[in-house]
Amino acid sequence: MNHKIILVCICLLFPGLPAQVYSQKYKAFLDIRLDEAPLQYDRMIFGQFIEHFHRQVYGGIFEPGSPLSDERGFRKDVILALRELKVPVVRWPGGCFVSSYHWMNGVGPVRVPVYDKAWHVEDPNTFGTDEFVSWCREIGAEPYICTNAGTGTPEEMSEWVEYCNLREMGKFAAMRRANGFEEPHAVKYWSIGNENYGAWELGAKTVDEWGDFVRESAKLMLNVDPTIHLFAAALPDTAWTIPLLQRAGPYLDYISIHGYWDRLQQVNDPSDYLSCMRFSVMPERRILNTIRILEETGYAGKIRIAFDEWNLRSWHHPGHGLHREQQDIAARDLNDLNSTYTMADAIFTACFLNACLRQSDHVAMACMAPVVNTRGPLYVYPEGLVKRTTYHVMYMYANYLQPFVIPCDLHSDVFRVPGPGGDTNIPVVDAIVTCSEDRKTLTLSLVNRHPDQEAGCRLSLPDLPDSLQAYVLQGDSPDAFNDVDAPGRVVPETRTLRPRNGSLSLPPHSLLMITIKR
Ligand code: AHR
Repeated sequence: MNHKIILVCICLLFPGLPAQVYSQKYKAFLDIRLDEAPLQYDRMIFGQFIEHFHRQVYGGIFEPGSPLSDERGFRKDVILALRELKVPVVRWPGGCFVSSYHWMNGVGPVRVPVYDKAWHVEDPNTFGTDEFVSWCREIGAEPYICTNAGTGTPEEMSEWVEYCNLREMGKFAAMRRANGFEEPHAVKYWSIGNENYGAWELGAKTVDEWGDFVRESAKLMLNVDPTIHLFAAALPDTAWTIPLLQRAGPYLDYISIHGYWDRLQQVNDPSDYLSCMRFSVMPERRILNTIRILEETGYAGKIRIAFDEWNLRSWHHPGHGLHREQQDIAARDLNDLNSTYTMADAIFTACFLNACLRQSDHVAMACMAPVVNTRGPLYVYPEGLVKRTTYHVMYMYANYLQPFVIPCDLHSDVFRVPGPGGDTNIPVVDAIVTCSEDRKTLTLSLVNRHPDQEAGCRLSLPDLPDSLQAYVLQGDSPDAFNDVDAPGRVVPETRTLRPRNGSLSLPPHSLLMITIKR
């Protein structure tokens, strides 16, 4: 008996169910465990990252002389757009850039341009520590400084902390005051190094070197300011991270992990929607592997995870990391093609944030890489900016979710996605449930990964109202994107949903946020 005949029979037997529930090929059940204690997640999960790379800083957030910039050179339109995201923290100045960056070149009245050995360009040093901290305060975000554990020294790191956080003792605090900043910058978040495990990183360290180097750096930095929160470059890999924790664990508050899944560093050939859906289940595996290492070493609950560089798509910078090969600087402009950033990027981003929220008893920070230009949610050009699809996802998470996560179990049909190692079954629906402290207000984030099929998602909530207002990000196609000439093609819309027997119909390739008052 074919699908259609079955459909007719069910319609006759159960006239109350509308056609779209019968016709839904895919279904999910979200069991919301309202009787269990909700967990307050850290809003630092909605953090951002910016690096001295291509047009992220110069020509991105910082454009002196632009009619769109303020007297300090900060793009005012970018500041407004990031305030709307309620960005809680921004990590800076790298990334690979930082592993040969010397912070003193970027402070003081005289800024001397230097050759950037990471990215093979000249850095004017006109945007340095004071500009970064001032810019963060302007957008309402905490500054998070990643230090140079490549060519730098523990002492140089600790002097950076002196410059930022000591009120008046010593020459570095005096230097900050002489530069016009009487009050300390009060930078709370400091990372020791960036990806020092990688052969591509300047001044990379061995496993045996890394733990001791981190410990000695931490001691100096904490002896300047014992209140700072310390991070160190880590991996979801026992061989690197267990020795790090054994030698420096007592000094750390976070371990930093990174992730890019659509590998485009050398060849800029963005993966299609279905491949990106296959990628969208991978971040949580990386988080779970890291949690297991923290549990194995006894640091679970004491040290938390900072996923402080993440994006579906890695940055395109051909030649980088392939020493003795010229880097193709002009090719970096391919990162700016807005057609790359479709609903695939939006759905991936929603699934990534859902993973961090699900694991928020261990994940306490995440920084999208980067915030402006390259693969970021904002594309900035001389005359204006474009809010890419991922901007709207970050906006919805930062503005609509409640402050607590409720435990829930999701049972979802799967769909087959082709991949290099053969087909993979991917859950059609992904979901997270947040609530107010009194659990009377729930906000659900529901994702339908399927490119062209609706999905029915039944909720375990009794007495759903007849209609619910939802914010929906869907676009007219899985490949829809925003661009300079079509900035509003993909934007959140409000739609009325009519639950049927506790089930909601999720449109294809969509993110829905629904608030339910109990
Ligand atoms: O592609 C950008 C680089 O990716 C960052 O500079 C580094 O931290 C990561 O490897």
